[in-house]
Amino acid sequence: CGIVGYVGPETPSQRPLEVVLEGLGRLEYRGYDSAGVAVLTQDGLAVAKRAGKLTNLLGDLAAHPLPPATAAIGHTRWATHGGPSDVNAHPHRVGDIAVIHNGIIENFAGLKNELLAEGAEFLSETDTEVVAHLLERAWRSEGDLTAAMLSVVGRLEGAFTLLALHAGQPGVVVGARRNSPLVVGLGERENFLGSDVAAFVSATRRALELGQDQVVTITADSVDVVGFDGEPATAREFTVDWDASAAVKGGYDSFMRKEIHEQPTAVADTLRGRFDTRGQLMLDELRIPEAELRSIDKIIVIACGTAAYSGHVAKYAIEHWCRIPVEVELAHEFRYRDPIVGPRTLVVAISQSGETMDTLMAVRHAREQGARVLAICNTHGSTIPRESDAVLYTHAGPEVAVASTKAFLAQVAACYLLGLFLAQLRGTKFPDELRETVAALQALPDKIQRVIDTEPEIEEVARALADEESFLFLGRHVGYPVALEGALKLKEIAYIHAEGFAAGELKHGPIALIEEGQPVFVVVPSPRGRDSLHSKVVSNIQEVRARGARTLVIAEEGDDDVVPFADVIFRVPQTPVLLAPLVSVVPLQIFACALATAKGLDVDQPRNLAKSVTVE
Ligand code: G6P
Repeated sequence: CGIVGYVGPETPSQRPLEVVLEGLGRLEYRGYDSAGVAVLTQDGLAVAKRAGKLTNLLGDLAAHPLPPATAAIGHTRWATHGGPSDVNAHPHRVGDIAVIHNGIIENFAGLKNELLAEGAEFLSETDTEVVAHLLERAWRSEGDLTAAMLSVVGRLEGAFTLLALHAGQPGVVVGARRNSPLVVGLGERENFLGSDVAAFVSATRRALELGQDQVVTITADSVDVVGFDGEPATAREFTVDWDASAAVKGGYDSFMRKEIHEQPTAVADTLRGRFDTRGQLMLDELRIPEAELRSIDKIIVIACGTAAYSGHVAKYAIEHWCRIPVEVELAHEFRYRDPIVGPRTLVVAISQSGETMDTLMAVRHAREQGARVLAICNTHGSTIPRESDAVLYTHAGPEVAVASTKAFLAQVAACYLLGLFLAQLRGTKFPDELRETVAALQALPDKIQRVIDTEPEIEEVARALADEESFLFLGRHVGYPVALEGALKLKEIAYIHAEGFAAGELKHGPIALIEEGQPVFVVVPSPRGRDSLHSKVVSNIQEVRARGARTLVIAEEGDDDVVPFADVIFRVPQTPVLLAPLVSVVPLQIFACALATAKGLDVDQPRNLAKSVTVE
C-alpha cells in the first residue's frame, strides 16, 4: 500500500489535499484497488474513500469537494484483510480519529474479540479498523495522539506503517513504523510523510529515514522522532537523488512499452563504469573484503517473482564461471525452512524495489544465521540494500509498470557482473572465455535494440492470438528461466493461463496438455553452444508439433534448423549462450504487452497485483 501525510500552515487551504492526492498518484504502483483521504478542517475530520483506482476517488472529490484543511493523510491500497470495497478502503475512522495502514496486524483477531466484548462496532473486515478503535480509546485516556500511538503500538504484532489524525489536534500527523517503510519529507513551514520519497519528491528533496520501531510526530514546523519505548531517537537525513520527471510516459501508450524500449539504456547504464580500460571488472561498491569473497563456498540467491528468474539465470552463469554452487530460492520459502547458511555463504538478494517484504525478511533471516548478504537492487536508499552488507545497484531508472521488464534485464546484467567479478577474483579455468564474455556483454545493448526494432512483427502475431486461452513456454538451460518469465508476463498482464516448462521435462507429463492448435513458445539455444543442447530443443519442437501444437520459436539469426518446424520465428542476434537471456526474453515481453493491449486491458496496473508487495 502507499501512504502519504502532510501538515501545513494554520490557515486552512486546499494544499493538504492537493499534496496528498499528487503523492497518491505517484504511489499507486504500491497498490491500486482502493484509495482514500482524511483531512482536518475547521469543522473537524472529513473522510473520502472509494474502491477502485485513484481516478474513482478523484471523481468523487470533484463532485463533492472537501473543505479547506490544515493537515491530510491519504492511502492507496493493496487488499490483505477484507476485499477491495468502499468500506474496507482506508482511512478508517472511529470517533474523531482517522487511521491509514500498510502491512498486516497479525494478532488482529484477538484484539478484535477483545474490542467486540467491550462493545466496539466494526464497519469493515480490515485489521486496520482494530487499530483505529485502540487509538481512539487510548486518545480518550491520554489526550494526545503521540502518547496514544505509543501505547497502542506495543500491543500490535506484525508489520505496519500507521498514520493517524485526530480532530482535537488540528496541526499534527503521527506516524509509526515496524517492518514497513516510512520516510519524512522536510519542507518550509510544512512537512510530509510517505511510504517512499515518491510521495513528496515534487515538493522537497530533503528527507529523513525513520528507523525500525519508531514513532514520528510532524507539525508544520517540527519533526519529533521517538522509539516505541518513548525515548528520543535520531533519524538520518538524506537528499533525494531521484528525478520526478523520469516517471512520465513520454509518448508511449503504456509505461510497460516505454520501459521495454528503455532496455538497451538500462543494461548499458548498469554496465557503465564497472570495467577498467583493460576490461577488468571494478566493483568498488561491493564493500565485502576481497579475502571473504575469495573464501565463499556457496551462493544462495533469494528473490520473488521476476527477480527470482534473474537469479535462475545467474545460477547457470556463476556456477560455470566461478565453480561455486549456487542455489536459487523464493525468498518466502527460504525463510521458513532451515537453510544451511554460514559465514562462507554469500546470500544475494535481488529486488527491483528493495521493499518486497518477503525478500526483506529472508535477508534478515540470512544475516541472523551469519551469512553475508549482497543486495542487487534498483532503488537507492530502499530497505533491502540498507539492511544488507553490500549492494550492487542496477541502473534501470524508475520502473513504473507492475510487470517488470527493464529491471529484469538490468538484474540479469548485474548478476553477470557479479559472476565475472568473482571469477576474476578467484581465478578461473576459462580466462579466454571470460575475456570474450566481457566484450560480448558490452555489445548487448545494441543487440537488445535490434530485437526491439522487430516489435511491429511481434505485435502482429500477438494480435492474431489475442483470443487464445492458454500458452505453453519451453526452454532449456538459461532458456528455462526465460520460458518461466515469458509465461509470468502473460499471466500478469493478459490474464491468460500460461505455463513455463524445462523442455526436457515435457515428456514426463506436460506433453499430455498438447492438443490441436495449442500455441507453444520455444526458446531455442544457440547452435554454437556446447553439446547437443540445440538439437535436443529442436527435437522438442518437433515433438509438440507432431501432436498438433502451433510453434512460436525464438531462435538466433542464421539458425536454419528450426525453420521446418516453426509456425512463427522471432529472430534474436547471435550471442554467447550464457548471455542469451538478455535478448531472448525481449520478444516474450513485447508479445505479452501487445496481447494485453489488444485485449483492451490496463497493461501497467493489472488486476490484483502491486508493483511492490510490502506484506508477507
Ligand atoms: C511483485 C511484482 C513483481 C515483482 C516482484 C518482486 O510481485 O508484481 O513484478 O517481480 O514483486 O519485486 P521486487 O521489487 O522485489 O523485485
